[in-house]
Parts: sequence; structure tokens; C-alpha cells
Amino acid sequence: MTTHRIASLPGDGIGLEVVPAAQQVLDAAGKRHGFSFDWTGFEWGCEHYTRTGRMMPEDALDTLKGFDSIFLGAVGYPGVPDHVSLWGMLIPIRRAFEQYVNLRPVKLLRGITSPLRGIEPGDLDFLVVRENNEGEYSEIGGRLYRGTPRELAVQEAVFTRAGVERVQRYAFELARSRGGRCDSATKSNGIIHTMPFWDEVFRGIAAGYPDVDSREYHIDALAALFVLDPRRFDVVVASNLFGDILTDLGAAIVGSIGIAPSANLNPEGTYPSMFEPVHGSAPDIAGKGIANPIGQIWSGAMMLDHLGHEQAATEIVDAIERVLDEAAVRTPDLGGSATTEDVTAAVIEQLGQQGGGA
Ligand SMILES: NC(=O)c1ccc[n+]([C@@H]2O[C@H](COP(=O)([O-])OP(=O)(O)OC[C@H]3O[C@@H](n4cnc5c(N)ncnc54)[C@H](O)[C@@H]3O)[C@@H](O)[C@H]2O)c1
Repeated sequence: MTTHRIASLPGDGIGLEVVPAAQQVLDAAGKRHGFSFDWTGFEWGCEHYTRTGRMMPEDALDTLKGFDSIFLGAVGYPGVPDHVSLWGMLIPIRRAFEQYVNLRPVKLLRGITSPLRGIEPGDLDFLVVRENNEGEYSEIGGRLYRGTPRELAVQEAVFTRAGVERVQRYAFELARSRGGRCDSATKSNGIIHTMPFWDEVFRGIAAGYPDVDSREYHIDALAALFVLDPRRFDVVVASNLFGDILTDLGAAIVGSIGIAPSANLNPEGTYPSMFEPVHGSAPDIAGKGIANPIGQIWSGAMMLDHLGHEQAATEIVDAIERVLDEAAVRTPDLGGSATTEDVTAAVIEQLGQQGGGA
């Protein structure tokens, strides 16, 4: 029997609730399909920071390197500045392990009503490929003359040819494998150095994929089209910041940020990849037992896919859809009254009702 060694990092807030919930579902899927998980939990995050002054220990990356994958909840909690929590844990992992693709599906599941008029399940099923290692999220810059009228802040964006090419090529390969198209988010009218460079690289990569249609959209127009005509998209590739914002919008048009999954991929497999929902630690509902676990469970399905268990991954997404649709078990963010535990139990029950595992 295959056993996957997974580092489990619940992090903060509702991460502590949705990660154990999703682990139960993954264990159940493994049992059906003849594989198992060896979960090792790490209590890193804002509480660790408050105790030790670090979000995670100094040797954390060395520790994580040995795992097959990382399963993360969310980081961030009131009392610790958000840039400290993010740069102390999430971003170092993404960068050290060259998880340069942040893959975020935007799919309207059965049983969910989109806030957009006239959109039905089946209408929306596209992927955002967010550059995850560089771009606007850089450490380069600084502040001067703090607290004086002359105070200033400078933040540099970093776009390298190697970094842009690899993520755009990944997006084109993905579009080709889906028989679809690949569109790019730019802002080369206003941002005059990095974005024309992003576009030039995009055109160069596009030339190598004559079978894949592509188009460049300014990010403002693209955001509007996510609302006005989202059916047109198949794969959208975007820089770190643009992809971050677009995917919260993507999550909103498919019903709730509580559902949206993501994968931080090191496509070469040199380092472990990391799977986490799009949402944050939701301090406003933490500890109430009502967090929607579906984003975390679906992220777990993406992890299964990555580990080579495509059938088990498909079954989990199918079970989620039946819970939302036929069983109508939904947490309050989706207008229901179910708890995290109710939804988790319902997904496991639906998994059990599917045809025999393989
Ligand atoms: N990847 C990450 O770890 C990540 C991502 C975003 C934000 N954060 C951090 O999380 C903290 C809160 O940030 P925020 O409020 O901007 O974003 P958030 O995603 O945590 O919450 C936004 C809203 O969505 C709701 N929500 C989120 N996930 C939900 C779920 N699973 N079920 C039901 N409702 C859900 C919350 O209750 C809240 O009203 C901050 O510290 C922020 O830095 C972390």
C-alpha cells in the first residue's frame, strides 16, 4: 500500500478547523483506493510567533523538504501584522520550494447559485495560473524619513525572463491539454516597464503554441469580464498580484470564497508542492465551527491529483457537488445552517455511496 508523507500546517483561525476536517475526507478516499497518509502536524503560525518571535522555526524549510506534499490551512491573525505572518511562513515556503505556479480553479459546482445572472453549473470552469514566486510581491524597497512629512515608501516589482517564461509556458501547456485557450492579464498601458516585458514574453511563448488561441487583456477590463462574460475564459495567466486579486473575484462568482481551492506547484517535482484554500484564516468566524471546509477539501483533491490519484480526486469533487446539490448540506456562507462537521460527514457519506474504489 502506498503511504504519502504529508506535512500538515493548519496555521491560524479557521485553518485549525478545516484542515482536520479535510484530512478525514482524504483518509476516507485513501481507504477506498488502497493508499494512506502519514500526517505530521506542525503548530506553526501566529501563536507560535507570539511565543517565539517566529512564525515557524529556523530549520522549518529543511524539515518540510522531506515530505511528499504540504497541506496548509491559512495564516494570519489579529495581533500579528499581516505582512509579518505572510512573509514569515507562506511566502518563504512558496519561494524556497520554487512553487512558481499557483493554480486556482474557478468552477461553478452543482448546487451553487452564482451571484451572476443567467450562469449555470457547467458554464464556468476555467483555471487561473498565478505567478507565485516574484512579480509585485518582492522584498526590494524600503521606507525613509518615517513619521515625518517627507516620509516615503518604495516597492520594486521583480519580473525575470526565466520566471515569466516558466509560468506562461505552464499555462499554455495546460490550455493545450484542455483543448482550450490561454489569456493573459496585463497592464502595459500604465505600468511601463514590467508589463510590456510580460507581454513580450507572452507573445514569444504564444508563438510556440499555434494551436492555442490567446489574447492579452488589461487587468481592469479583465476583471470586468470576469463579471460580464466569464464563459469566454479557459486558462488565464497572471502576475502574482493580479492573479491574487482575480482569484478572489473568481471565488466570488462561483459562490463563496469558502469553496475555492488552490495548489502551489513545483511542476518539476524537485521540492514538495503545497495545497491550500484561497481563503484566509477568517478570524470573524474562527472557533464557531461554521467554517466551510469545502475549499480545504477540494485543495486536498488537488493534492491527490498531484500525487497520482486522479480517480480519487474526481470522486471527492463529485461527492462535494452531491453534498451541495442533492443533499443540500451547506454552511452559512452558502446560505445554509450546517456546521463544518456536518459538511465533512456528508462528504464522507457521499464518498461511501460511490461505486467501488480502485
Ligand atoms: N493564504 C492565506 O493564508 C491567506 C489568504 C488570505 C488572507 N489571509 C489572512 O487571513 C486573515 C483574514 O483575512 P481576510 O478577512 O482578508 O480574508 P478571509 O478569506 O480570511 O475572510 C474573508 C471573508 O470570507 C469569509 N470566509 C473565508 N473563508 C471562509 C470559509 N472557509 N467559510 C466561511 N466563510 C469564510 C470570512 O468569514 C470573511 O468574512 C488576515 O490575517 C489575512 O492576512 C491569509
